[in-house]
Amino acid sequence: MSTPIPSIPAPRNVPRHVAVIMDGNGRWANLRAMPRQAGHKAGVKAARQLVEYMAERSIECLTLFAFSSENWARPREEVGALMTLFVEVMKREADNLHKNNVRLRFIGNRDSLGSRLVKRIDEAEQRTRDNTGLQLNVAMAYGGRWDIVEAARAMAEQVRNGVLTPERIDETAFAETLELGGCPDVDLLIRTGGEKRISNFLLWHLAYAELFFSDVLWPEFSSEHAAEAIRFFEARQRRYGRTGDQLEAQPC
Ligand code: FPP
Repeated sequence: MSTPIPSIPAPRNVPRHVAVIMDGNGRWANLRAMPRQAGHKAGVKAARQLVEYMAERSIECLTLFAFSSENWARPREEVGALMTLFVEVMKREADNLHKNNVRLRFIGNRDSLGSRLVKRIDEAEQRTRDNTGLQLNVAMAYGGRWDIVEAARAMAEQVRNGVLTPERIDETAFAETLELGGCPDVDLLIRTGGEKRISNFLLWHLAYAELFFSDVLWPEFSSEHAAEAIRFFEARQRRYGRTGDQLEAQPC
């Protein structure tokens, strides 16, 4: 059986889906002799600015990595402070996001989160579900491998129940079963804080993403830095395995 050749999405110089690994809060605080929690608070401000920036530019999806499956291994006090911060942020920002027509969605293992936070998450999702502007995905207790295993398990369950046959499992069906089902692949990944790795973020959706790494610590990531990332994206030629000549010969 020959492998199908994927079709190339129409060329666009504006990303549809931007994903961000917001790294550097702790180091930002350390540099100021402040507790790490102060870095996370400052990080929330930077996230708010980025959401406004992306919403104004009609980006369809923005996915922020707020807490990874691996972050549970941090000291207990830091994890507790982060969870409290998330509850506060939800309380404070949900109104504003709703007024700005943002649709909020959470991805990750909710079973591992506290009931207070899950309640806020459910409320915010319900409240904003019919909004038509930016879709803001917040990844909490999320891991890319976890997501893939969950989707595989869900599909296996459907096969067992007779609602799916193995032949109907393809990339499209699989992507729909992942946590971000309905969102296009990530076009642009931004990672701040100087590290150049993916850290088990959206493994499936990053397959063809352009990767923008910045040394800026997350609390200092401003609209100017976001504009720089978008300019970087605009300058890329996305080849999806083809040659540059093939793409140039292709009618627009
Ligand atoms: C990385 O900094 C950041 C996190 C672990 C996640 C916390 C992110 C926020 C509070 C910002 C936005 C929040 C929401 C709800 C959208 P780090 O602690 O790994 O920094 P370090 O590498 O300098 O130690």
